[in-house]
Amino acid sequence: MQDALAAMQALATTEGRADPYPHYERLRSAGPVVELGEGFAVVTGYAEADQVLRDASFRVTDAAVLDRALPGWRDVASWQWLSRTMLWHNAPDHTRLRRLAGAAFTARRVAALRADVAALAGELIAPIAAGGGPVDFMDTVAYPLPVSVICALLGVPAADRDWFRPRAQDLTLALEVFAGDPQELGRADAAGEDLAEYFVDLLARRQREPGDDMISDLLAAGADGRIGGAELVAHLVLLLVAGFETTTNLLGNGLAMLLDRPEQLARLRAAPELAAAYIEEMLRLDPPVQVTSRYAGQDSELAGVRLRAGTELMVVLAAAGRDPRRFTAPDSFLPDRPSVPSLSFGAGAHYCLGAPLARLEAQVAFPLLLAELPHLRSAGVPTRRDRLGFRGYATLPITA
Ligand code: HEM
Repeated sequence: MQDALAAMQALATTEGRADPYPHYERLRSAGPVVELGEGFAVVTGYAEADQVLRDASFRVTDAAVLDRALPGWRDVASWQWLSRTMLWHNAPDHTRLRRLAGAAFTARRVAALRADVAALAGELIAPIAAGGGPVDFMDTVAYPLPVSVICALLGVPAADRDWFRPRAQDLTLALEVFAGDPQELGRADAAGEDLAEYFVDLLARRQREPGDDMISDLLAAGADGRIGGAELVAHLVLLLVAGFETTTNLLGNGLAMLLDRPEQLARLRAAPELAAAYIEEMLRLDPPVQVTSRYAGQDSELAGVRLRAGTELMVVLAAAGRDPRRFTAPDSFLPDRPSVPSLSFGAGAHYCLGAPLARLEAQVAFPLLLAELPHLRSAGVPTRRDRLGFRGYATLPITA
């Protein structure tokens, strides 16, 4: 127990966040579920995390939970914003919001993007092939690709993408594991306000000139009274932010894994049809979203640990992906392993709405990158962003 507490403290430090995996193992050695004090438990087991995510009696943070757990939360604008999104709603409101966004985010619309994604990726990779480098992969491909794709899907001018980047990054500070630093929350609040204003303007424009995009579909739902004005703006901000912070980090974390393993890189280059399996393994081994949380809605028991109603559960998706009870050789990159779904996109009612899109982007980008850059290699030591919940690189230098 003492060691589990020490592991939690380590995760709150820059060094701990740089390589959190040994600390997750220290937590796991205290059990797949460990209570670390009154009303707070950590879940590192695969089966237990899966159960918590699928069982509706474990609730996501919503306004009722926050009123109990964190009086005063309404003074934090970015938490207010989050509380309007599906991510922070339980059924029945979650079902309504998810259905509306899901109806606009159709499989047809995502599948139809494949050619556009390939064209966009090609445009970003061509100058690297021509120039040779060194360049920063995060700046040249990993960030611009997902943001251009989500902008196209939503109907947001891609020219604004450089304006979004710092704001989207700041806004995710409100979702971080040890969120609460007033300065960071201040940045998240300011970013949320800027983005909300941006979408209010864009909605007004789309109302005058509807298009074949998600914003126009959601506006139609708003006109029927199925989604309120503030809810609509909150969801557009959510889709924009969720749509690229995470996918950017899948591309960066995934490429770093390949550069560290030249034999795997060569194999994927020779057999691009393996891309889907490689990407699932990247998602399992170093997931962009490491952690989520739930609250016990009632007294319950999980892996023999008694949880009182109201207990907060930190669900470590990244640790679940390395649970030795579920995955053999869990720390190794083995794309041929029998496919067990990792929990890197979550599970249950809140399963990632954008998973097909994120997978499509990575499945298109990696084979293209390896084909177009036959001499692709690392050009220096990459630097990590100092985050725990959203894990990714700040810089990843490459040459072609
Ligand atoms: C590799 C990329 C991505 C990863 C790793 C990821 C991960 C996740 C995870 C773990 C959750 C569940 C959170 C929970 O249950 O507490 C989630 C939910 C969500 N994701 Fe993603 N995501 C990715 C890409 C995307 C994209 C591209 C979009 C949209 C364009 C998106 C939109 C959403 C939304 C709207 C939710 C909330 C779903 C709900 O509450 O019902 N995500 N994502």
